[in-house]
Amino acid sequence: MTRKNLSLKKYRQAEAVKLSLGKPFFESEGIAIYQGDSLELGSNLPHSVFDALISDPPYCSGAAGTAVGADPSKKYCHSGNTLGRPSFGGDFRDQRSFKYWCSLWIGQALRACKETAYGLVFTDWRQLSTMIDALQAGGFCFKGLISWNKGRGARAPHKGFFRHQCEYIPWGTKGAVPRLTDRGPFDGCYSIPVLQKDKHHMTGKPTELMQRLVQCVPKGGIALDPFCGSGTTLVASALEGRQAIGFEASEEYCEIAARRIEAAKRGELMKYERPVAV
Ligand SMILES: C[S@@+](CC[C@H](N)C(=O)[O-])C[C@H]1O[C@@H](n2cnc3c(N)ncnc32)[C@H](O)[C@@H]1O
Repeated sequence: MTRKNLSLKKYRQAEAVKLSLGKPFFESEGIAIYQGDSLELGSNLPHSVFDALISDPPYCSGAAGTAVGADPSKKYCHSGNTLGRPSFGGDFRDQRSFKYWCSLWIGQALRACKETAYGLVFTDWRQLSTMIDALQAGGFCFKGLISWNKGRGARAPHKGFFRHQCEYIPWGTKGAVPRLTDRGPFDGCYSIPVLQKDKHHMTGKPTELMQRLVQCVPKGGIALDPFCGSGTTLVASALEGRQAIGFEASEEYCEIAARRIEAAKRGELMKYERPVAV
């Protein structure tokens, strides 16, 4: 997205973010990645610039029990097989400290959001009530629950289980829910399978799902993803004509996200290829 495609106001808002955060790890026409800790970066964000917080933080699922300190591959990948995808940090907090931590970065994001902004945060069945609390503690007004049905490939420890087939996206708004005239209402349930060729992170979300979710951002508007991982929110934003800022602690994932965004800017979806063992 070039300056030509944006209103002066939208262009200035994006410039204000860049001025406050300094040099990005990667930048391409309205999409930028900053490498670092989300709370540190979030403390420097300007007020009232983002149209939405859309994020998929580490779930810290089950971290209060036997999973304390477990590598995410053991928790989130079938039989621990990551197919060469790098691991990631930040997934160690127990439920109490997870809620506190989420309320801090959600609160920072809220200040950086406009009055009409949406807040969408991913979570799983274990952390759902905790995340709904954190969304509200951070200051968003809780408005509902979006479900993402991953399909029957989803985990069921044995035959006695109902599959853990859905992940959830509690959503809210900073002020009243905007009365849109150009788009919406948005679907509250998405059945979109995880395709290995489109999964660049151990817990990566489908690009199509994120393309659907970024519709809440107006064309040319800006989304914030403080845990962008392999950059799916940013790729979706690029494909859908939105701007986006991502934070990510891992340099490896920043690099993967940058390559995916460059491909998206050429109108291509980068395919996941398992690294060749050396
Ligand atoms: C669940 S993943 C996001 C995956 C992403 N939605 C995708 O499709 O690729 C969460 C990401 O947050 C990053 N992370 C964890 N703690 C962080 C922190 N304190 N600051 C910034 N990033 C962090 C991890 O490295 C991980 O890549």
